[in-house]
Parts: sequence; C-alpha cells; structure tokens
Amino acid sequence: MSQRKVLVLHGPNLNLLGTRQPEIYGHETLVDIDSALRAQAAANGWELTCRQSNHEGELIDAIQAARLDGTAAIIINPAAYTHTSVAILDALNAFEGTVIEVHLSNVHRRESFRHHSYVSLRADAVIAGLGSQGYRAALEAVMASA
Ligand code: DQA
Repeated sequence: MSQRKVLVLHGPNLNLLGTRQPEIYGHETLVDIDSALRAQAAANGWELTCRQSNHEGELIDAIQAARLDGTAAIIINPAAYTHTSVAILDALNAFEGTVIEVHLSNVHRRESFRHHSYVSLRADAVIAGLGSQGYRAALEAVMASA
C-alpha cells in the first residue's frame, strides 16, 4: 500500500555540496537541502527520508527497500550515475510509485556526456537547472498528486 511517504536519494559527490564547484552546484549544503525538504514534508503530513551514497549498490538497495515499505515516490539525483547506471534504471523500473529525477545544474547546457540519462527512461518527470529549488518543486508535485 502506498503511503504519504517519500524517499529522497542523492548520488555520488553530493555530500560535498556547498564546497564542490559552488559556481555550478550552489552554496547550500546537503544538510541545508535535506532539512528544508523535511520541514516541507512535515508541514504537509508526509514522512520524508533522505539518503546520500557514493556507492551505486547502496542506492539500489535503498530503491529496492522503497518497493516494499509503502513509499509513494522517489525523488532522485543520481549525480554521475545518471549517465552510466543501467542498474539504477533497472531498480527504478521495479519500483511502482512516482519517480522524479532532479539535477541541480542544467545538464543539457554542459558536456555532451551529461546529456544522456538512463534514469530519464523511467522518470515520470525531470527537473534540471533550478538548483536546490528543483528538489522542493519535485516534493511539491509529489504531494499535490497524491
Ligand atoms: C548532477 C549533474 C551530473 O552530471 C553530475 O555528475 C552531478 C550532479 C546535478 O545535480 O546537476 O554530480 O546530477
């Protein structure tokens, strides 16, 4: 059964937000982003879990767990795995809820290897280039469509 429950997944190197190429990724830390999302979810009666991992298998484990625990939606920034990971795509294909793919930067204005996303083959929506606001827009959309 799908509940008012959302999982936010951040891929590799996003733990460095705030200090990692701030001209591209902004000055907010991942803690800042996650706490704003938690507050936004709580204000609407939703349960929100945030996970970051630099390891592909850990992201897959989290997606698999979400299949079984009633999670209604996954908001995922797969970071560099966006462009390489068939395994994350396969895991998301086995998840029945809503999937929203988020990128802080506009990947289409960057190097050509960032233009292709495996995850977009599954995502119900993709938000790129809005910075951290992209996560909050994704959460708002998830909660509005429930
Ligand atoms: C990113 C874009 C990816 O190409 C890159 O590898 C990242 C972050 C973004 O949020 O803009 O690590 O997903």
